[in-house]
Amino acid sequence: MNSLLLITLVAPLLSLKANSHDIAERINSMQSTWKAQPNHVTERGIENLKKMLGARLEKIQFLPVKPERRLINLNIPDSFDARSKWPGCTTISSVKDQSDCGSCWAVAAASSMSDRLCIASGGKINVNISSEQVLSCCSYCGDGCNGGYPDEAWKYASRAGIVSGGDYGSDEGCQPYAISPCSSNPTKGLPRCVDDVDTPMCYRECTNIFYRRSFYNDLHKFQSPYRISSSVASIQAEIMENGPVEAAFTVYADFNYYNRGVYQYTFGRAVGGHAIRIIGWGTENNVDYWLCANSWTPSWGEGGFFKIARGTNECGIEDSVIAGLPDL
Ligand SMILES: *[C@@H]1O[C@H](CO)[C@@H](O)[C@H](O)[C@H]1NC(C)=O
Repeated sequence: MNSLLLITLVAPLLSLKANSHDIAERINSMQSTWKAQPNHVTERGIENLKKMLGARLEKIQFLPVKPERRLINLNIPDSFDARSKWPGCTTISSVKDQSDCGSCWAVAAASSMSDRLCIASGGKINVNISSEQVLSCCSYCGDGCNGGYPDEAWKYASRAGIVSGGDYGSDEGCQPYAISPCSSNPTKGLPRCVDDVDTPMCYRECTNIFYRRSFYNDLHKFQSPYRISSSVASIQAEIMENGPVEAAFTVYADFNYYNRGVYQYTFGRAVGGHAIRIIGWGTENNVDYWLCANSWTPSWGEGGFFKIARGTNECGIEDSVIAGLPDL
């Protein structure tokens, strides 16, 4: 096909004015492993999506790689779901709402820390770790809502420790999320999503006045973080043993249309880096996948979760898997 023809075919799909239903239909006609559908994220438009993709990936490669163990004796099952392995750790099944802030790097880190704290403590410490504190107080983590480094979020947890904190308006924990859910649909009664939301202020006290503990008594510390080597078995072993991990990948302009199935890149340009949590794996219609939790509310994807192809380093996801262990 000559390039002029290609541009004529593809350019309208990528333009802002292209109808989102046409784009979804086009994605669905090009492949059969996943279904695309317009949703609240595609409604916000590509500029807003770009602001939400706040994971800066360039430093992850410098984290020390966890030494590869002999995996021979480890029985890795065909499918695994951390929610059923550790049912008492309720944070594993929760889906966050980063709102219109590029805080995925902090939200995914805090979520994975919450899960790991519960698992390592045998279910005794079942709290949401405050993504709010990481987002607003870590000075070397990047630029708050304008994007940050997932690896530095974990380093911050090992140096400073992080308090508890639930969703916006939840009155749960010491520092709940401070950014309200938003919508581009005025009938939803929520503030309108904007492209340039301010990073919340940092406080070294509990912002939830109903919380009984002091900020310093509520800090949870982690050990030095590590990167997990890109092999599928290493990532699986890490999740089976220690719980969900944080991972980052390149989001292309088709990903936000995800509704169900196993995502594989279909078309569109790279929009930005996104951090999420991997909580398991499986196989659907002969396609191996990673089971991931996004932070775009439970109304996106499969109840807030999505599946992405496994074993092919889809969008770089197997190259950027990081985690740490609680310092109990
Ligand atoms: C953590 O936050 C989720 C919502 O994101 C909520 O459902 C859950 O009850 C909270 N607390 C724990 C301990 O899971």
